[in-house]
Amino acid sequence: MYLCLCKGLTESDVQRVAQACQANPKALTTALGLDDDDCCGRCAGNIDQLAACAASGCLRAAG
Ligand code: FES
Repeated sequence: MYLCLCKGLTESDVQRVAQACQANPKALTTALGLDDDDCCGRCAGNIDQLAACAASGCLRAAG
């Protein structure tokens, strides 16, 4: 499922990068390219939520 239409990012893209960035919000934003001028920012809340969950390991526990 796509979370970010501007960058074409899926849930698995965000999970992978969030784990690599250890949920550092600035590093995650930069790594996903969400600080580019062409991003609308509408996905930020959902991406933050999924990234926090991925970094805490809750997705591994659920899956
Ligand atoms: S939908 Fe993600 S920046 Fe626009």
